[in-house]
Amino acid sequence: MSSPLLATARLVLRSLREEDAPAVQRLLSTPHFAPHTVSFPYPYPPGAALAWIRQKHSREEAGLEHQWAITRPNGEFMGSIGIATRPETSTGHIGYWIGHDHWNRGYATEAARAVMEYGFGALGLARIEAMCFPGNPASARVLEKAGLVFEERREAHIIKDGQPRDVLVYSLSRPS
Ligand SMILES: CC(C)(COP(=O)(O)OP(=O)(O)OC[C@H]1O[C@@H](n2cnc3c(N)ncnc32)[C@H](O)[C@@H]1OP(=O)(O)O)[C@@H](O)C(=O)NCCC(=O)NCCS
Repeated sequence: MSSPLLATARLVLRSLREEDAPAVQRLLSTPHFAPHTVSFPYPYPPGAALAWIRQKHSREEAGLEHQWAITRPNGEFMGSIGIATRPETSTGHIGYWIGHDHWNRGYATEAARAVMEYGFGALGLARIEAMCFPGNPASARVLEKAGLVFEERREAHIIKDGQPRDVLVYSLSRPS
């Protein structure tokens, strides 16, 4: 299963490819991701990008997730976005990252809106949710701009670096 092409005003979201590994490795080899994510430590170890892409492909093949490369129309790789789904639920969970050089230009919000439209449309989801750490106002702002609403603070919901961490949960139900 590959993720379908989604085009927005400024972006092309396409399936993640193993050939994206060098770009992923370069973009994630900065200290800007580790504080806000559980998947991207700093330093980012050699080979981690390819392993991450292969893990995403396995989850896609298992029907658990769709993952896209966020690119410009000229092909430049800028980041990635995914939506995880479980067959037994009608809820999708989105997550995303953008290379630091491209922050604060609205790209994550534009990508999130496209993936939400796909989730509520083609995937037939009834609800989309996302989580971020309390110290990640940029991600919280992306979710708000994409139309999700703050739902609750879940205490000690995620273990990061061996420590339980609170998360902020945002959600949106399918527009009627
Ligand atoms: C979160 C992330 C994807 C946002 O990407 P982006 O393309 O810069 O997002 P956008 O430009 O669409 O929106 C960012 C918004 O956050 C705001 N923002 C950024 N830093 C902020 C801060 N420190 N405090 C408050 N708002 C902040 C921006 O001003 C912008 O809002 P605005 O359009 O109202 O001005 C990016 O910062 C990132 O990759 N972070 C590391 C990985 C990560 O946190 N992923 C999400 C895990 S839940």
